[in-house]
Amino acid sequence: MTTSGGSLIRSFVDSLIRPSAASLPTRAWALISAVSLRTKILGMVLALVLLLGAGVTLQVRATLTRTLMAQLQEESVSLSRDLAARSTDLLLINDLYGILQLLRETQTNNPDVRYAFILDRDGRVVAHTFDGGFPADLASANSVAADAHHHTTSIWTEEGVVWDTAVPIFEGKAGTARIGVSEARMRATVAAITTRLLLTTALVSLVGILTAIFLTWLLTRPVRQLVEATEAVRHGDYSPRVRRWADDELGELADAFNVMTADLARADAERREREQMRAFYLRQIITAQEEERKRIARELHDETGQALASVMVGLRNVEEAPSAGELHARLADLREVASATLEAVRRLALELRPSMLDDLGLVAALRRYAADYTARFKIPVDVQIVGLGDQRLAPEVETALYRIIQEALTNVAKYARATHVSVLLECHEGQLNAIIEDDGCGFDAAQVLRSAAAENRLGLYGMRERAGLIGGALTIESQTGCGTTVYVRIPNP
Ligand SMILES: Nc1ncnc2c1ncn2[C@@H]1O[C@H](COP(=O)(O)OP(=O)(O)OP(=O)(O)O)[C@@H](O)[C@H]1O
Ligand SMILES: [Mg+2]
Repeated sequence: MTTSGGSLIRSFVDSLIRPSAASLPTRAWALISAVSLRTKILGMVLALVLLLGAGVTLQVRATLTRTLMAQLQEESVSLSRDLAARSTDLLLINDLYGILQLLRETQTNNPDVRYAFILDRDGRVVAHTFDGGFPADLASANSVAADAHHHTTSIWTEEGVVWDTAVPIFEGKAGTARIGVSEARMRATVAAITTRLLLTTALVSLVGILTAIFLTWLLTRPVRQLVEATEAVRHGDYSPRVRRWADDELGELADAFNVMTADLARADAERREREQMRAFYLRQIITAQEEERKRIARELHDETGQALASVMVGLRNVEEAPSAGELHARLADLREVASATLEAVRRLALELRPSMLDDLGLVAALRRYAADYTARFKIPVDVQIVGLGDQRLAPEVETALYRIIQEALTNVAKYARATHVSVLLECHEGQLNAIIEDDGCGFDAAQVLRSAAAENRLGLYGMRERAGLIGGALTIESQTGCGTTVYVRIPNP
């Protein structure tokens, strides 16, 4: 955000004069903070140099004027006294030529002396240094008492102020010596020194501005790069890296920024991958559900439907039974068909969802599943329940844990070639842990999880997702040849 000089001043003045609810310092601060870093540093340097320059110039000028002025007045007094002393004898012998010579000599030897003259005891001009006649009212412009040391007064002339000192000659009995010393040379000296100081200030300001421009360029270059890179990151582009220009705080900031963008890029890639996996998982679940429905429909049609149809035919046959013996035989057949159908329907219902999970809870359903599993796969399962008692968990937690353990045990049966599996369900300090451990061949879990989508394997991924959905976490520890352990931790079941 750069504001040009003119509009900056205009907006500053506007903001100061416009009546507003904010106080003056608040408005001034709002304005200062709105300008760019470069303008701030430049403004600061310029203001400091100008303040310093102006302060030093004023101080030097005042002190110099004071000192030189005192010197000038002293000089005026000493010259007048000298003139008075030297002209005494000349006056007494009335040597006018000698007096004039003395006056000229005094003026020539001292460039500040504008005039010198001698008055006699009656105030008449005896001799003077004016070429074009003695000014009319000069004699009366200053006077000194006979017993005074001297008297100095300032007289305004075209050239500026002249310090006129009158000194009595021979205690006033012989007359008065007067000398006028001009300030002009002193003023010129002060003006020359002031000009030199102001020029030095201007030069230092220029150097200050150039240094500030260079400094702000050094400072703002990495900051500008950081701003550009941050903008890119805001738009989802994590590729820009900023250069480490120097080994200072800005360099550290650049490093920290680069590490942050690298982390963000990694996190973004992981998020995308997870999203892909989730979409894939969802598609698979929907397909699997459809497949399951088809299978159940087929089973109901082919098996249960057929069985019920044969029950119907059997019932008609019962009606037409020729003898009591035949009736009993046909009823017995029917009973067998009905019992087989009942068993098939029960099996179907159990596969769909074990009613035990709803009726008796996770512990009972797990024990039942483990018993069936051992009978089916000939792998002993040791189920241990610790700290849970008869306590029922939330239905979604029970279902998720049941499905996770079911999938883990199915994997053991399919791949592990294990001789023993143990399932531990433990509730400890408000946290629920489930550990499924086998002594089978083991596998590279991280690699399998990475390639799950590509290889169309969803068991492990589904386990992890289910654990995540109920606020838990799932980890797998496995090494080839050393068995596999699946840990599920649910902090607040
Ligand atoms: N307990 C285990 N012991 C040894 N290997 C295992 C074990 N559990 C999983 N695996 C390995 O991990 C792979 C992935 O398992 P996952 O359950 O994700 O998929 P799957 O069982 O092949 O397919 P799906 O479960 O989707 O029907 C398996 O193919 C197997 O190689
Ligand atoms: Mg599996």
